[in-house]
Amino acid sequence: LKTVWLDVDPGHDDATAIMLALNLPNIHLLGISTVHGNASSHHTALNAARCLFAFGGGALNQNVSVYPGASHPLILPTKHDPEIHGPDGLGGVEGLPSADEPSVEAFIARDEKGVIVRALEGMADQIKRFRDQRSSEEKVTIVSCGPMTNLALFVSVYPEMLEIVEQIVFMGGGVGLGNRSAVAEFNILCDPHAAQIVLDAPVPTVMIPLNVTHTAIFTREIQLGLLRPENPHSTDRTEQLSANSTSSSLPHAATPLRHTLSTLITFFSSTYVSTFGPQFASGPPLHDALTIAYVACPELFSEKKRHRVDVELSGMYTRGETVVDLYGYRDDEWKNYDDDDGRSWGREGKNCIVVQALNVN
Ligand code: BDR
Ligand code: CA
Repeated sequence: LKTVWLDVDPGHDDATAIMLALNLPNIHLLGISTVHGNASSHHTALNAARCLFAFGGGALNQNVSVYPGASHPLILPTKHDPEIHGPDGLGGVEGLPSADEPSVEAFIARDEKGVIVRALEGMADQIKRFRDQRSSEEKVTIVSCGPMTNLALFVSVYPEMLEIVEQIVFMGGGVGLGNRSAVAEFNILCDPHAAQIVLDAPVPTVMIPLNVTHTAIFTREIQLGLLRPENPHSTDRTEQLSANSTSSSLPHAATPLRHTLSTLITFFSSTYVSTFGPQFASGPPLHDALTIAYVACPELFSEKKRHRVDVELSGMYTRGETVVDLYGYRDDEWKNYDDDDGRSWGREGKNCIVVQALNVN
């Protein structure tokens, strides 16, 4: 069982990451923090709560809450992506409860005085509580699906807590590939300084770059499969999920959850094609879902090698690019570097496992 803290900016593909994290049997989701990114921090927090309600069975039965985090990058002006995700981050998605429903608001973390608990405090408290309840060997995996502002603050404010963190798995960057500039990927481009701080932290990091996520396409065929009538006798978890979904009166689908997913993919497919062109005619990449897939089933991924990764912070054309030293050009800079899997990760040496292939169709 892997215990996971999830940091997201939902976001269509973030929503699929939340769904997986709540329902994969070997993932224990400790909490969700939200960050500016695909939409404003106001919207991403409410969207995460909407997803938690819909994908977690509609009740506060999983003890998972949403902890709203940073509204702005550390240094640069805020950037959102309505072209891909719509103005509120989950454009075109039907069947989720609306943001102003009290049942949604109930998923936002509050203290006993009713004051919202923010991401940094929530992460620290929940991760500490986890440590106090479990054996000292058990650690938490932090998963990042958005700009890394919350995580940069967390590793800076609570460095002692990194002992309880097994790894930080993030969707972001590319190996010679960008999507929101010629060379930069959106999550890193939004807050490159935060990404560099996380890469410099003394904790193992795993990068799932665009090169991999662009091979995880949610095709039209898979989408059509969603709309096939369900088998009422199935014990399969997705079937149960569909049956338990809370939305009603959705005429087009066998079950509400399937309809929700189908509308999510329809919107995401169309913005991918209108933004990036026919290269994505077969369907959009499910970027963020791969982080949770990696934690749950690392064996699905291959070519996981450690490299030096830095973020271009000031290039006139290249800000936000992840500079991955595939061929070890900079190895001489790290002569005394200890190349085992110990805690020497960070400021020196090959600071990041870069995943380069997904082995499923
Ligand atoms: C990343 O940017 C966002 O649009 C997605 O949610 C994903 O996290 C892909 O570049
Ligand atoms: Ca995201």
